[in-house]
Amino acid sequence: MKNICVIGVGYVGLVTGTCFADLGNNVTALDINQQRIENLKKGILPIYEPGLKELVERNVTAGRLHFTTSYEEALRDTEFVFICVGTPSGVDGEADLQYVRAAAEAIAQHMDHPMIIVNKSTVPVGTGDWVSDIIRNTQPKPIDFAVVSCPEFLREGSAVRDFMNPDRTVLGSSDQAAAEAVAQLYLPLRAPIVMTDIRTAEMIKYASNAFLATRISFINEISIICEQLGADVEEVAEGMGFDKRIGHHFLRAGVGYGGSCFPKDVRALTYMAETHGMHPQLLRAVTEINNFQRKHVALKLRDLLGDLQGKTIAILGLAFKENTDDIRESPALAVAQILLEQGATIRAYDPVAMENAAREVPELVLCQSPYEAVAGADAVAVLTPWNEFKNLDMERIRDSMKTPIMVDGRNMYNPSEMREMGFRYRAVGRGCNGDGVDFNGE
Ligand code: NAD
Ligand code: UGA
Repeated sequence: MKNICVIGVGYVGLVTGTCFADLGNNVTALDINQQRIENLKKGILPIYEPGLKELVERNVTAGRLHFTTSYEEALRDTEFVFICVGTPSGVDGEADLQYVRAAAEAIAQHMDHPMIIVNKSTVPVGTGDWVSDIIRNTQPKPIDFAVVSCPEFLREGSAVRDFMNPDRTVLGSSDQAAAEAVAQLYLPLRAPIVMTDIRTAEMIKYASNAFLATRISFINEISIICEQLGADVEEVAEGMGFDKRIGHHFLRAGVGYGGSCFPKDVRALTYMAETHGMHPQLLRAVTEINNFQRKHVALKLRDLLGDLQGKTIAILGLAFKENTDDIRESPALAVAQILLEQGATIRAYDPVAMENAAREVPELVLCQSPYEAVAGADAVAVLTPWNEFKNLDMERIRDSMKTPIMVDGRNMYNPSEMREMGFRYRAVGRGCNGDGVDFNGE
């Protein structure tokens, strides 16, 4: 059992802290957001993440997981401090490090014994050394510490499972003993551990996210070509994926990637390259293709409906992906904004993200079910692939809409079945799927 402190109780911090507690460690999770900590003490979680609530309750009850807003309390007797604060996009796509700086300064001010500081936030290459400098310059008196980079690779919606079953753990440090001490914490997870220097570890995180984003933009570009040439991108991806050098993962064409990480991390890596005099053409194209996917939904709706002024469009799904309430850089909200700008009324439904979405886009008319959202609508756009949308009663939907028009931004449904049912149906990259439809999917 080790004493661990986690700074920041967002998606990464709360999952990391809770999972380490579940592995038998004594964890104190700290946040500067008083409301979040008060709620956590009452068992109310700040985020929706499958399985997390039960895990928090179990570890709080077992006395292994504690919450506080006090750095003094959190750092008492701790051996490891995990920095898990946000690193949002700043001006020009540069990562905004103000929260990392504040956390590093607060750690330094309250440090009264040696400790290992582990950076889990996604930070630009060189930040580990910068954090060391901040701590050294802020400490009231010199105390030994080491900084280790340990980037996090979990996905929202499956965060607990991803944390407990990682493909690898990456540890970067100039202090071998500190990196090995952190490695001991991860040994129960039985995943390969990659030990490297701190800058390389920081780059592994950006390169991994940028590569996955590139795969998505690649298949989205292929989807556009498929639409024009009469091929089916779903079958193309399936056929490509059997090649072991390619694989099936992250080849789902759709409305583009969203979320708090891919968009910002591709931008941040682009920025890092540009400010060092390079021309990151591929990274720029990845972002450009991604932005177009959102506009493409609106273009399809315009194509089907004509002028969108005064039209009512139902949107199913507001979260940036399924199984989360996170709406940061959600493609669904980006599409909603475009449609609103063109004068449409948006009736929206999401199983868990409506409260967050309403804060971001107050113009949305929120509905309590997919059926309520589509009633009387001129068209419906399906933008988040929630399981609950897979088996909708399509006849009921068709009959309650003003016109049965659907843009399926996530390729959820069978095009021929939808058309047989009487929908004017457009999917992504499914110009033809062997059912005799023309290249534009009609
Ligand atoms: P988040 O915004 O959900 O949570 C960050 C938390 O840190 C907030 O609760 C905030 O109040 C708190 N905080 C801010 N400043 C603080 C300070 N000085 N002291 C204590 N607490 C402070 O962020 P997140 O989504 O968990 O992401 C955290 C980092 O991890 C980011 O760098 C992100 O890129 C990276 N990451 C995120 C994911 C993900 O799925 N969300 C996955 C891998 C990596
Ligand atoms: C992503 C990475 O998968 C994690 O490894 C990483 O830790 C995390 O970013 C991070 O750094 O924060 P996450 O954003 O939670 O995780 O979710 P993903 O499942 O990767 O989906 C990201 C976006 O891409 C979603 O909008 C999703 O719908 C979209 N996507 C994903 C596609 O459009 N097609 C795909 O084939 C896969």
